[in-house]
Amino acid sequence: MKAIILAGGSGTRLYPVTQIINKHLLPIYNKPMIYYPLSLAMLLKIREFIFVINPEDEPFYKKIFNHGEKLGMKINWVIQKKPRGLAEGLILAEPFIKDDCILYLLGDNIFFGHDLPKIMESAKNEIEKNGGAYIFGYYVPDPERFGVVEFDEEGKVISLEEKPKKPRSNWAVVGMYFYDKKAIEFAKNIKPSRRGELEITSVNKEYLKRGKLKVKLLGRGFAWFDAGTHDSFLEAGEFVATIEKKTGLMIGCIEEIAYNNGWINKEQLLELAKPLSKTHYGRYLMKLVEKK
Ligand code: DAU
Repeated sequence: MKAIILAGGSGTRLYPVTQIINKHLLPIYNKPMIYYPLSLAMLLKIREFIFVINPEDEPFYKKIFNHGEKLGMKINWVIQKKPRGLAEGLILAEPFIKDDCILYLLGDNIFFGHDLPKIMESAKNEIEKNGGAYIFGYYVPDPERFGVVEFDEEGKVISLEEKPKKPRSNWAVVGMYFYDKKAIEFAKNIKPSRRGELEITSVNKEYLKRGKLKVKLLGRGFAWFDAGTHDSFLEAGEFVATIEKKTGLMIGCIEEIAYNNGWINKEQLLELAKPLSKTHYGRYLMKLVEKK
C-alpha cells in the first residue's frame, strides 16, 4: 500500500494567512499540519508517499522532506496546477501507484484515538485482501460542511452526498480513505460537481454502486478535526497541546515513528534532533535515544 497526501487546494477558508503560505505547512501546536496525516500512514508502516501539492510549494517540500531519505522513507510529489478537486489527486498520482492499494489522506485532517492504528490496520488488510473501498464516519453537529453518509435501519449505507443543504444524517465522512487501485479509473470517469470539482464523494459513490464500499463509524473515543477553518485550526492546536502536555507523549512526531519502525538508527535520530535542541520537540527526540 502507498499513501497519497493531499496538500494542495487554495485554503480560502483560512485567508488571509493562506494567501501567502500553504495551510499544510502552518503549525498545529508544535509541528507542521502535514506531519499529522503523514504520521498516521507511517504508523501503518507505509513507507512510500506521494504528496499532491501546489506549484509554488515545491521548494518548501523539498526543504522539509526532500525525498524522505532522512526518515528512511520514499517521498515523491506531484504538482496540481489548479485545485480541481480531491479526486484529481488520484489521477495525478497514478504513475507512482502502479498495482498498489492506496491510503488517501487529506492533509488538513487530524485524528487522535487509542485504537486508531489497529482500526486502520484492519481496513488496510481488508482492502489488500478483498479490494473495494473502506471509509470512516464521524458524528458532527454541522454535517452540511462535509461529505455525509446515510444508513438504513440495518446499518447498510444507502446514500453519500457531498456538502448537502439538507443532510440525511449527522455522519460526516472523514479525510481518510482506503482504496484498491480501481479508484484511479473511477476518478478518471467522474464529472465535475456543481462547484466545478472532481469530488472524492463521487469516487466513493462508484464503490457504493458496485457494493464494494465499507464504512466504519468512529465513536466517542476518537477526536477528528478538519483544521481548514480559523476555529477548527485553533481547536486542533489546543487539543494537541493538551494531550501532549498531559501524557508527555507526542502526537504526529514523524521522527519518533521512523525510529520506532526501525527506519532510522540512533545516530540518525540524534542528527535530526540537533537543530531542534532549543525546543521541547528536540529534547523529546533526544530522550527517545536514552529510553531504548
Ligand atoms: O475533511 C473531510 C471532508 O473533506 C469530507 O467530508 C468531504 O467529503 C471532502 O470533500 C473534503 O471536504 P473539504 O471541503 O473539507 O475539502 P477541502 O477543500 O478543505 O480539501 C481537503 C484537503 O485537500 C485540503 O487539505 C486541501 C486539499 N486539496 C483540496 C482541493 C480542492 C487539494 O490538495 N487539491 C484540491 O483540488
